[in-house]
Amino acid sequence: MTKEKYLYEELGLVNTKEMFKGAMAGGYAIPAYNFNNMEQLQAIVKGCAESGSPVILQVSSGARKYANQTLLRYMAEGAVQMARKDLKSNIPIALHLDHGDTFELCKSCIESGFSSVMIDGSHLPYEENVALTKKVVDYAHKHGVTVEAELGVLAGIEDEVKHEKSNYTDPNEVEDFVKRTGVDSLAISIGTSHGAYKFKLKPGESVPPLRFDILEEVEKKLPGFPIVLHGASSVLPKYVNMINENGGKLENAVGVPEDQLRSAAKSAVCKINIDSDGRLVVTALIRKVFKDKPSEFDPRKYLGPAREELKDMIVHKNKEVLGSAERA
Ligand code: G3H
Ligand code: 13P
Ligand code: ZN
Repeated sequence: MTKEKYLYEELGLVNTKEMFKGAMAGGYAIPAYNFNNMEQLQAIVKGCAESGSPVILQVSSGARKYANQTLLRYMAEGAVQMARKDLKSNIPIALHLDHGDTFELCKSCIESGFSSVMIDGSHLPYEENVALTKKVVDYAHKHGVTVEAELGVLAGIEDEVKHEKSNYTDPNEVEDFVKRTGVDSLAISIGTSHGAYKFKLKPGESVPPLRFDILEEVEKKLPGFPIVLHGASSVLPKYVNMINENGGKLENAVGVPEDQLRSAAKSAVCKINIDSDGRLVVTALIRKVFKDKPSEFDPRKYLGPAREELKDMIVHKNKEVLGSAERA
């Protein structure tokens, strides 16, 4: 008897299991790029197809509302078809819910074709995080969907939840958490944060190193278990400058240096989340067209260059930072 296909398999998507196995064995990380619209999705798929990288298409609850939850399923299916038919590429593609905050949201995403979900109970008391994560895992695994959870809190903004201070992951909790929840991967807090303002630096100061000591402790407690790094944009100065030179105002925007991410990707970090870097590229290119060609009003003339530059930035990340290029 042939096995019935899960919904996400019908859309041509895969869950993250095999991706993380490859990343762990090969010393690289799978890119998880956030998208909200067609141009970002096209750029991500093209960039990953061109560089031969597996990819996680990442959608926050805000992005799901923005793009429309019904349309999203067909966008993901269309992205797979574009990769296979037009780009002649067989890269594995996952569709992942970023920072899911309730069981109901995770269930709804699974029912509409997501192959992977994050349940983020990191702000909850430990036992509540365990219970919520386990509930999502039990449901998701019945549908072949992989689950990411989080221990420790990142500073910054995740949708409406604002955290002033980061709260590093306690390595003494990770083993118990993974055992009791059955989760497939774990996001940890080692000094990254969301958004374009990750570190407050005084003049002459450089970015402090991530807490690789905590990462090492976690790896010792969970040998071979996939770890996830959120808030991993580098806030590339090229695009911050382009924004500021073309009428924008981003002051003291700082991200995680790419060499630190490269080191993390060689460890048990199997998934690296990038959203802000993509936002900066798109904004920079659109601002430049608006400034250079004030009479332009065809959206293709400014969204097109933004999409092309985003694709190039993604190829760069996969090749030079995550090491995921040619690993598909
Ligand atoms: O971690 C948060 C992601 O960057 C998504 O951001 O909730 O504004 O879509 P968003
Ligand atoms: P950045 O804001 O650093 O891109 O982080 C994105 C992220 O962690 C999405 O979950
Ligand atoms: Zn995040």
